[in-house]
Amino acid sequence: MPTWLNDAVFYEIYPQSFMDSNGDGIGDFQGIIDKLDYIRGLGCNAIWMNPCYDSPFQDAGYDVRDYQKAAARYGSNDDLVRLFEAVHKRDMHILLDLVPGHTSEEHEWFKLSSKAEPNEYSDRYIWTDNWFQAPEGLKHVAGESERNGVYVLNFFKCQPALNYGFLHPEQPWQKGMDDPACVATKEALKDIMRFWLDKGCDGFRVDMADSLVKNDDEKKSGTCMIWKEIRKMLDESYPEAALVSEWNRPELAIPAGFHMDFCLDWGGNCYNLLMRDLKDGVNNSFFRKDSTRSILDFFGEYLQSYEQIKKKGHYCLITGNHDTVRASYYLDVRELKLAYAFLFTMPGNPFLYYGDEIGMRYQAQLITKEGGYTRTGSRTPMQWDDTKNHGFSSADAEMLYLPVDITPNTPTVAAQEQDSESLLHMVKEILKIRGEKEDLKDNGNLELLYGKEGERAFAYCRGGLLMMCNPSGQEAVLEEKLLSGPNRSKTELLSGRTELLGAEKLFEIGSTEYADGRFTLGAQSFVIWQI
Ligand code: NOJ
Ligand code: CA
Repeated sequence: MPTWLNDAVFYEIYPQSFMDSNGDGIGDFQGIIDKLDYIRGLGCNAIWMNPCYDSPFQDAGYDVRDYQKAAARYGSNDDLVRLFEAVHKRDMHILLDLVPGHTSEEHEWFKLSSKAEPNEYSDRYIWTDNWFQAPEGLKHVAGESERNGVYVLNFFKCQPALNYGFLHPEQPWQKGMDDPACVATKEALKDIMRFWLDKGCDGFRVDMADSLVKNDDEKKSGTCMIWKEIRKMLDESYPEAALVSEWNRPELAIPAGFHMDFCLDWGGNCYNLLMRDLKDGVNNSFFRKDSTRSILDFFGEYLQSYEQIKKKGHYCLITGNHDTVRASYYLDVRELKLAYAFLFTMPGNPFLYYGDEIGMRYQAQLITKEGGYTRTGSRTPMQWDDTKNHGFSSADAEMLYLPVDITPNTPTVAAQEQDSESLLHMVKEILKIRGEKEDLKDNGNLELLYGKEGERAFAYCRGGLLMMCNPSGQEAVLEEKLLSGPNRSKTELLSGRTELLGAEKLFEIGSTEYADGRFTLGAQSFVIWQI
C-alpha cells in the first residue's frame, strides 16, 4: 500500500471546467497549478484529474486518441509535468485517469486495425470475421470499415473495445487471453502507465476497470488476472503508485490489486440512497430532513463489502463525480453538511468533486456537451468569485466550455470564505479534524454502534471517536446502554465521564447533549465526541 494513501483526501478535477489561465474559455493545467493552494487549503492533499490526453472529445476525453500526449487545450506534456512538480512541492499527490478498456475510434491503433490488409494492430480490437456476423451479447458496430468484420464497443459508438481476449473463447474470431495479440494489448497498457509514472504522476483512477476481458465470469477472473499482473509491476517498480478502480465491487477489485475502489451508484445502490434517492418525483435520500430511510439501508450493503476488504484496501466514498447529478440537487445546505460530515469521517479515502465544497448547483437545462448528456449539468465552470464568469475565465461568455451558473445567489468560493456558517467552512473544519486524528486514518476501525429500521438517528465509532447523527427534523434520544459494536459490548461508553465529555466535542452541527446515560440529538445534528 503506498504510504501516502494512509491519509489521502482527494479532490476530483474535471480539467475543462476548473480554471482557465489563458482566456480561451476552457480550463487548463496552468489553471490547476494556480489553484493548488486553494485545494490544499480545503484539506485535500491529493487530486484525481479526469482524462487530459489528446482526444476528439466525444466522451469528454474518455475517448483517447493518443495516450502519451496531453490534449493541446490543457497544455503540453511539459506543462503536465510542471503540474506534477507543483503538486509534489506542496506535499500532494495526483492521479491521472487511465482508460484501459477502449480508445477513440480515431486512435492510430484503431485506424490500422480497421484496414483490410492484416497488420500488427489487426487484433488490438475485437473483430468478428464477417461483416454480417454480430458478436452475441456485446455492443458492436457494423458497416464502417474496409475490413470485413464487425467490431465490439465498450461504451459509446466512438469507443471500440481493446482486445484483452475472452475468458473462454468459443468462436474462431475470439482470442484467448494468452494470444500474442491480447498479450500485446496488455503490454501496451503497461507502457502507458510507465510512461506517465516516469514523468511523475502518482497513479491512476481506472475507468471501467472491470471491462477488460470479454465474456468474463461472475467473479471477473480474467480481468482480475490482468490487474494482478499490473499490480505486481507496480509493487516491483513503482511501490508508491496508487490505483483506484471504477468498479464498485471492492471484494473483487481489492484482491485483484487495486488499493482502493469507489462506492458508486451502480452494481448495488446503497450509495445513492444517502444523497441521490429520487424516484417518481419523491426525494427520499437518507440525509433529507423528511426522509423515511434508516441508515441501515446504506450500512447493510456497505458493511458487507467493507468488512471483507478493510485490512487490504480502501472502499472510498465520494461527494459526487463527473457522472453523477450534483448532491445539491437533492439536499439543501444543512443536509449537505450532515452528508459531508458523515462521508468525511468514514473509512477509505474520501473524494470531493470540485465545486461540491460550495454546493455548486446542477444545471439541468443544459444541452449535452462532449457526450455528457444528463452529466453535463454537473460539469459547469467552477465558481470562484463574483467577477466575470465567476472568475473562471476572462473569455467572453459565448466562448466558455460550458456556461457559468448565473442564477441568483449561486454559491462562490469568495462569498463562502467570508461566511463562517458556509458549507465551505464546514468542509475545511471537518477535513482539518480528519487530517489531525489518527483514528480517522485507521481504515479498519469502523463500528456501527446504533442504527435501526424505522429510526433515523445513528451512531458509529472510529477508535476513540464517537460520531452521532440525527438527520431528521425532530429531536432524537439515544440511550447510551443501547450503543454497541463488534468491539464494544453494551457497556457504558462514557459513564462517569460526562463533565469531561462536554469539553471534548470536536465538531458539531446543531446540538447534542449528554446527561444521565442518554444523548439528546437535536434536529439535523451531527457530533464528534472524543471518548
Ligand atoms: C466512466 C467514466 O466515468 C465516464 O465519464 C465515461 O463516459 C465512461 N466510463 C466511458 O469511458
Ligand atoms: Ca485555457
